[in-house]
Amino acid sequence: MKEINSMYPSNKKECYSLIHSQLKSILEDEPHVIPNLSNTSALLNEALTDINWVGFYLMHNNELLLGPFQGKIACVHIAIGKGVCGTAVLKDETQLVPDVHQFPGHIACDSASRSEIVIPIHSDGRIVGVLDIDSPVTERFDEEDKEGLEEVVRILETGCSWKGSIFFD
Ligand code: SME
Repeated sequence: MKEINSMYPSNKKECYSLIHSQLKSILEDEPHVIPNLSNTSALLNEALTDINWVGFYLMHNNELLLGPFQGKIACVHIAIGKGVCGTAVLKDETQLVPDVHQFPGHIACDSASRSEIVIPIHSDGRIVGVLDIDSPVTERFDEEDKEGLEEVVRILETGCSWKGSIFFD
């Protein structure tokens, strides 16, 4: 597990507030989805403790396709309705999974994963992808994480130019 990065406050609200302002400056003057999602993965990987995978799946040909991430090699295609990611798309709502072993159909990309959060990303009224974060700790994510990460997604929704991305045909 990576070491705690002392630059980020241990208080969750303060930590997410710093993440949000850093993300806004990353997106300033840069509309492209791929570099922005790559840097967002790197930012979250630096800032969040007890995580083993953070990244994006993007809609392509009516399924989720692996996008920018930090962590171990991951599965490339996820059908809508499958796993935690596909369920987030099907239900169009954040999936906060305290114990992945209790989630029917969970797709284990890294056997170390114990809990997970997946948040749908929207543009122009449709889902364009998801933010997915895995932790090796059971019950790693709580309501404060959900709020903080949903705000990360809102910043990406408004700060990136999703139209014309290579993914969405
Ligand atoms: N666990 C996810 C699959 C993606 S990996 O976690 C990177 C799922 O069940 O959809």
